[in-house]
Amino acid sequence: MATNRTFTMIKPDAVQDGHAGAILADIEKAGFRIVALKKTLLTPERAGEFYAVHKERPFYGDLVKYMSSGPIYAAILEKDNAVAAFRELIGATNPAQAAEGTIRKKYAKSIEANAVHGSDSDENAQIEGDFYFPANEQF
Ligand code: PPS
Repeated sequence: MATNRTFTMIKPDAVQDGHAGAILADIEKAGFRIVALKKTLLTPERAGEFYAVHKERPFYGDLVKYMSSGPIYAAILEKDNAVAAFRELIGATNPAQAAEGTIRKKYAKSIEANAVHGSDSDENAQIEGDFYFPANEQF
C-alpha cells in the first residue's frame, strides 16, 4: 500500500537561479505538507552515498559532481499517495519530455540539471528522508 510521504531535493541549478521559493510554493499549492526542510551543501562523498544505487551507471561521476557543486534544499513531503503524486507534479526526468505545467518543464535545464529530485518508491522515500533528517526533525 502506498504511504503518504515522499522526499525531494531542489537541485543546485534551481537554487542558484533563485527558483527554490517558487518551487516550494508550487509544492504547497499542489497540496503537499512540508514535514521537514533544510538548505545544505553535499560533499562529493555524501552525494556519492545518496546516489549509490546509480553507481554502475555511466553518468554517476557527473551526477555526484553536479549534486555537490552548490547548495540544495532537502525536504520530506506529505500527501496521499505521495510518491506518485509528486512524480506527476515534477514531470519526466528529462525536461524535454516533461508535461506542460510540471516543475521540471518550468525550471529544469537538462537531464542532469533537472531542478528537483523525487523518490521513486515508498521504500526509497523513507531511506532518503532519513539520510537528511533524524526522527526528531520530521513533523
Ligand atoms: S529516475 O527518475 O530514477 O527514473 O531517472 P533516471 O533516468 O534513472 O535517473 C536517475 C538520476 O540520474 C540523473 N541522470 C543524469 N545525470 C547526469 N547525466 C545524465 N546523463 C543523467 N541521466 C540521468 C537524473 O537527473 C536522476 O536524478 P534524480 O535526482 O534521481 O532525479
